[in-house]
Amino acid sequence: MKTKKKTAIITGVTGQDGSYLSDLLLKKGYKVVGIKRRTSLICTDRIDHLYDNENFVLEYGSMHASDWMYRILLKYKPDEIYNLAAQSHVRVSFDNPVETADITGMGTLRLLEAIRQTCPGAKFYQASSSEMFGDNPEVPQNEKTALMPASPYACAKVFSHNLVRNYRIGYNMYACSGILFNHESPRRGETFVTRKITKAAARIKLGLQEKLYLGNLEAKRDWGHAKDYVEAMWLMLQQDTPDDYVIATGQTHSVENFLYFVFGVAGLNVDHHVEIDPKFFRPHEVPLLLGDPTKAFTKLGWRPKYDMVKLAEDMYESDLAIELARMQK
Ligand code: GDD
Repeated sequence: MKTKKKTAIITGVTGQDGSYLSDLLLKKGYKVVGIKRRTSLICTDRIDHLYDNENFVLEYGSMHASDWMYRILLKYKPDEIYNLAAQSHVRVSFDNPVETADITGMGTLRLLEAIRQTCPGAKFYQASSSEMFGDNPEVPQNEKTALMPASPYACAKVFSHNLVRNYRIGYNMYACSGILFNHESPRRGETFVTRKITKAAARIKLGLQEKLYLGNLEAKRDWGHAKDYVEAMWLMLQQDTPDDYVIATGQTHSVENFLYFVFGVAGLNVDHHVEIDPKFFRPHEVPLLLGDPTKAFTKLGWRPKYDMVKLAEDMYESDLAIELARMQK
């Protein structure tokens, strides 16, 4: 007997995670409905390769409003919904706190409420974040570690995280939060520190740029590869019961380590090219993130394939190829 094709809705589909998750779900035979905020500049580079796929549909919707949520949920009757939309830049959230809270916090409430009223049987994934641990010095951080958010972005994520539990228990909905530690890739936005470093290293190597300006080099992050992390998202929705999971590599490195490693691969001298600019420091920093992914390892059977070294090499090689291709145009 032929089984019905599953339908997944992904908010934030044009982002790094949205694009990798679309690739994964389409490969698994899903129909994917991607939600994108309408902008006059198109900004769909990460999903342009999916346009000809008959199982991929793009719809417009902003997390600021909920009218489209009811319409799209009723139209597609999804089996799974992945909420990846957010104002996801921590530094930017200090400058735009209200907008961040509305998209990253209230947006989740709008979506959960629309799901409860139209398709309460659908499975829901929320992109929670290790930023929620904030400046809690306790490491490694697991699902029980106290949340001490240190930015408007993280406060909004905590609001959403608590709502997921509230809807799961209160309305018996299959709703999960993935507490994802930093995850990067060649598709990472260029203002996040890892991509900023790999892109600058490639450009300096090719003589296209002289200097790289960075902020706090002492902060430590548990960096994994986004390709690995979207598999964990999918696995969370394939279990008998919904739950929350920390997704991390279990290793932490400072920004300085990452910088020296990438510049080492590129054969560049950090002292010649890198300067500190106070504008990249944050009013309230998260000094140390180190995740304990034991629950995801044992219950989901999930394992990351990339560590920081493989990740940084992948990103640097990709940026070098991008810059070379641009030069040859
Ligand atoms: N962006 C940026 N730019 N960060 C810098 C810079 C710089 O020039 N210099 C130093 N840093 C430091 C930041 O202060 C921070 O401690 C660390 O590098 C990482 O910054 P980001 O790459 O911007 O990521 P993040 O840790 O703030 O947040 C990311 O990970 C979260 C998961 O923990 C984002 O992807 C969030 O959306 C995500 O939730």
